[in-house]
Amino acid sequence: MLACALLSAQEPEKKKPEPPVLSMNGAPPIDPAAVERGKKVFEPACGFCHGLDARGKSGPDLLRSTLVLHDENGSQLGAMVRAGRPDRGMPAFSGMSNEQIADISAFLHAGTMAVTNRFAYEIKGLMTGDAKQGEAFFNGDGHCSGCHSVSGDLAHIAGKYEPVELQRRILLPSPNIMDMYMGKKVKPPAPSKVKVTLPSGEQHAGVLVHSDEFTVVMQESGGMKSFDRTPGTKVDIDNPIAAHEAMLPKYTDAQMHNMLAYLETLK
Ligand code: HEC
Ligand code: HEC
Repeated sequence: MLACALLSAQEPEKKKPEPPVLSMNGAPPIDPAAVERGKKVFEPACGFCHGLDARGKSGPDLLRSTLVLHDENGSQLGAMVRAGRPDRGMPAFSGMSNEQIADISAFLHAGTMAVTNRFAYEIKGLMTGDAKQGEAFFNGDGHCSGCHSVSGDLAHIAGKYEPVELQRRILLPSPNIMDMYMGKKVKPPAPSKVKVTLPSGEQHAGVLVHSDEFTVVMQESGGMKSFDRTPGTKVDIDNPIAAHEAMLPKYTDAQMHNMLAYLETLK
């Protein structure tokens, strides 16, 4: 849906530069060879349900999937794909190797980057949104006003960022990996907090470093600590931008355009 809108909005005479393929979180750039290999595994195995471009068919859009967003080199994807969700139409691919999974992960992350970046590129010539409707969404269905105030933290936000970057931040308020890549100073991401309660009742709390289905790593006051997710171990993760990640798959194109038009009035 997003892709179609973008393609149809593109003016053919102006050739837009493709942004370099970079990973989320400012991690090293995604290896283009892995993306190519991943595409070759993905298309025949997954494309039938998720679409050849992973933007969704009978199965969900994987480029705006929270699970994919949190995946690092297959850490989340591996368990999910090998187990599948047979009761919900996602078959188990128990034979997939770690290499194949990591390649699929690279392919999907490159796609996610392309979606958020390309949307940001296109938006420049596309200020078609309706600010009034954006305002209504901000205070209504978008639930933005629950965390933000246009006279408080978001006051003059449009003076702070170019429309392209503002759009990107509405979608995913994370450091701009383009800037990181070019060595510019960036505002660090809002860190996730994590609390682990062991079966014994012993509790640890700190800043989340890594989490997958087997382990949780945190930075505690005493240093780095790793915990196995054994049965009976309780893990509570408080991700400050969880609301943004949850919204990402849900926006319609119109909502995104309207939201930008509204925030652009906050000069
Ligand atoms: C026969 C159809 C089918 C095939 C083939 C298939 N999937 Fe799926 N997939 C689904 C469906 C349906 C869901 C949604 C399941 C649900 O509702 O929980 C899904 C869900 C997912 C999710 C979870 C998305 C999320 O955000 O919750 C991931 C990741 C995923 N599939 C990856 C893959 C990969 C990678 C392959 C190829 C190796 C693949 N799928 C092959 C049908 C399929
Ligand atoms: C549950 C709370 C929550 C909700 C709901 C929420 N946000 Fe955010 N938003 C955050 C947090 C946390 C940040 C990161 C702040 C930081 O990095 O300093 C953020 C960052 C942003 C930024 C970037 C601000 C900056 O200075 O870089 C924008 C723009 C933004 N949100 C817009 C929105 C819009 C529009 C909505 C509604 C569609 C929304 N947010 C919904 C919590 C929320």
